[in-house]
Amino acid sequence: MKLLISGGKGLLAGSILPYLGGRFDLAVYDIDEWDITSASKGRELMELHRPDVVLNLAAMTDVDGCEDGEDMARRVNAEGAGTVAGLCAAAGARLVHMSTDYVFDGTKGSPYREDDETGPASAYGRTKLAGERMVLERLPGAAVVRTQWLYGKGGRNFVDTITDLARRHGKVRVVNDQRGSPTWARDLAAPISSIVEKGLSGIYHVSNTGSCTWFEFAKAIFSILNMNVETSPITSGELGRKAARPANSVFDLTKLEGSTGIRMRGWMDALREYLATGG
Ligand SMILES: NC(=O)c1ccc[n+]([C@@H]2O[C@H](COP(=O)([O-])OP(=O)(O)OC[C@H]3O[C@@H](n4cnc5c(N)ncnc54)[C@H](OP(=O)(O)O)[C@@H]3O)[C@@H](O)[C@H]2O)c1
Repeated sequence: MKLLISGGKGLLAGSILPYLGGRFDLAVYDIDEWDITSASKGRELMELHRPDVVLNLAAMTDVDGCEDGEDMARRVNAEGAGTVAGLCAAAGARLVHMSTDYVFDGTKGSPYREDDETGPASAYGRTKLAGERMVLERLPGAAVVRTQWLYGKGGRNFVDTITDLARRHGKVRVVNDQRGSPTWARDLAAPISSIVEKGLSGIYHVSNTGSCTWFEFAKAIFSILNMNVETSPITSGELGRKAARPANSVFDLTKLEGSTGIRMRGWMDALREYLATGG
């Protein structure tokens, strides 16, 4: 099966491409060669590669940056995604498109299901939700994979950032009022492959299992690495980020398990392996 991939230099791509490369024939591009907002470039690449499936990993992911530049974020995360879906529809290709927990407002007291009401509280979330809708409108057979709290080789992420900060300062303050499931980006390779191979459509939640706050995540990282770091819990308000983040991001993974048979492993097991192997 041939896959055409956008956003191929990002964090998720860096973590899953080695695995996908062993199962599929890949053509990989990033913004320098394929800006997903360009329909003509997309059409050219569709004609060149004639993919069975397009995997759209491209997005504007700077959550606070999106707050300042919602128009730009909308062009990429919504209209760009819609453009890719339109090209797939015209070419008879399938599409797997990535989305996020930020489509929810995070006030639900239990894990989020795919059909739960959305209510993004940030520009990033609003534009990603608009992208989901455009994709499914233009290509109802597309699969939308929502994930969260990714770390891995190939991009800046919380694990690297917090260990850098701790090494430099010996102490860190970490948000303790947002709960989610830290997810090793590499662990998305198998479910994404399965969604491609089985030709699944609709929305799927995919993450490692179990949950913690960012504070608890940091403590777990320091404990595994035997680092002695003074770690203080703070609130999101104290951190004062521009964009609002969901207080609860935890996913219900029942649909993924039922459709693919894949049971995602716990976030601590994944983190231990990531830190032991260097990703
Ligand atoms: N990381 C997470 O925790 C997380 C959580 C939930 C969902 N997701 C979703 O997962 C997907 C992959 O995210 P990621 O973490 O791999 O993000 P990433 O590291 O920022 O990768 C996205 C890639 O897309 C590129 N890009 C930006 N605008 C583009 C455009 N107009 N055309 C083509 N490429 C463009 C980026 O290039 P530049 O770097 O040059 O901008 C980057 O290489 C995204 O859909 C994201 O929303 C990520």
